[in-house]
Amino acid sequence: MIGKDINKAAEIIKADGLVAFPTETVYGLGANALSPLAVAKIFAAKERPNFDPLIVHIYDIAQVKELTNNVDEKVYRLLERFWPGPLTVVLPKSVLVPDLVTSDLPTVGLRMPDNPIALELIKKANTPLAAPSANKFGQLSPVDAPHVEKQLPDVDYILAGGQTKVGVESTIISIENDVCRLLRPGYITLEDIESAFPGQFRFEKSKPKHIVAPGLLKSHYSPKKPLYFIENKESGFPKNSGVIAHCKTNNYKAERIIYTSENTNKIEVAARLFSSLHQMEEDSHIQQIFIEKVEESGIGLAIMDRLRKAAFQYSQTD
Ligand code: TXA
Ligand code: MG
Repeated sequence: MIGKDINKAAEIIKADGLVAFPTETVYGLGANALSPLAVAKIFAAKERPNFDPLIVHIYDIAQVKELTNNVDEKVYRLLERFWPGPLTVVLPKSVLVPDLVTSDLPTVGLRMPDNPIALELIKKANTPLAAPSANKFGQLSPVDAPHVEKQLPDVDYILAGGQTKVGVESTIISIENDVCRLLRPGYITLEDIESAFPGQFRFEKSKPKHIVAPGLLKSHYSPKKPLYFIENKESGFPKNSGVIAHCKTNNYKAERIIYTSENTNKIEVAARLFSSLHQMEEDSHIQQIFIEKVEESGIGLAIMDRLRKAAFQYSQTD
């Protein structure tokens, strides 16, 4: 059921139920992070393997102390600078966090979302919320309440808050011994963090050699139709193709064209990325989707990260 009743949503969380809620990035599927029973329901609803850890959402920086161990003052300054906002920070976890949340990792990903509905829900539920993106495992991330209902019609409540602003999932970094490592690119870049805290951390762009979490797997975020990159702007498309372009002056002949931006503004492309893929997925005339690439700088890194994973099974070169 979709609605706007935050009090009702908070009561459902307190009773170990599941509530989908808006954040500034994508919709999350929330449950009481401190209740293993509630957290288990998230994995079941998403059909998510339990080796994939969940992010814990908080509304007050004071909650970091309870959920973590041995966090440096410097890290608190970083959190104060970027929260609320689309940044998840992986830190050593305290015993309070159930192992199910972190898939037995000794660390927990924490985030304070920049969305008033989300913050009010967490506050009223009076507990941190474990919340992955509110989609079935491997499918498109939801950026509006109807997207959640399409994939997860049976969740106890879907708290509606319109389209999300940022459109791609939060940046994930880990911080260990002053080394700040990028685990998933997003709206906030390592360069943003570096320029806010010059010389205070060592920055690592490369992912760790072992896979610490399957959000880092090659295939993810996929529409239910084949997705391909447009490699050659002049080439034609097969019948019943949908094209997603990022600049209005790029003309294509196709069954349907969706523009994410007037002029390749990457912030706009990110904001409309998943909704354009949902529209193509829902359009019964469209059998395959073609999408333009974007330049891989700034938030372009996050856009191409999600698109490569979404297109992986149909792609030879990417
Ligand atoms: O923007 C977002 O981050 C959204 C909204 C709802 O907050 N959430 C989200 O959650 O994208 P999810 O579950 O779809 O992706 C979270 C990813 C996991 O797949 C995993 O890669 C990583 O976060 N993660 C969580 N805890 C971790 C940990 N302790 N160490 C390493 N990676 C972790
Ligand atoms: Mg996800």
